[in-house]
Amino acid sequence: MLKPLFILGAPLLFAFSPQQPAANPAPSSTPAGAAQLVNPVKSTPESMARAKKVYGYDCAMCHGDNGNGKGDLVADLKLSLKDYTDPAALKDLSDGEIFSIIKNGKGKMTGEGDRAKPDDMWNMVVLVRSFSKK
Ligand code: HEC
Repeated sequence: MLKPLFILGAPLLFAFSPQQPAANPAPSSTPAGAAQLVNPVKSTPESMARAKKVYGYDCAMCHGDNGNGKGDLVADLKLSLKDYTDPAALKDLSDGEIFSIIKNGKGKMTGEGDRAKPDDMWNMVVLVRSFSKK
């Protein structure tokens, strides 16, 4: 009685083992599939207020309070950052690519990693895009 159960269980275990090459599309956090990601989050005034707060703590020192790319650390780190108040700045990046950079970082930028929830990072995508809409 044990043996058939084991035989049934083994392929199941194998299927869920993390070492298996993924049969599914790449997980949302990997840069490979990131460009196609679509924002799953519906922003609310509350969620945008939270995104703005986190932006103030984690992003404004480089990208500037209003996204103009003139934060306090720019000179020290010798950064040259895009001005997000210019609609052209982010036009070539998809929401998924922006999400991926916010999560994983890029170059001298450290990403949020696990510090922020995915929902909050999606709201930051919306926030970053909104800088050119004022
Ligand atoms: C240490 C300074 C620093 C911090 C903090 C930082 N960034 Fe960046 N960010 C950069 C740099 C430098 C680049 C350009 C990276 C490259 O292309 O090599 C960048 C790139 C980006 C991009 C891609 C578009 C572009 O400008 O090239 C986005 C979007 C972005 N950052 C958003 C954010 C957000 C949102 C936060 C806060 C969660 C954040 N950044 C925090 C320095 C920073």
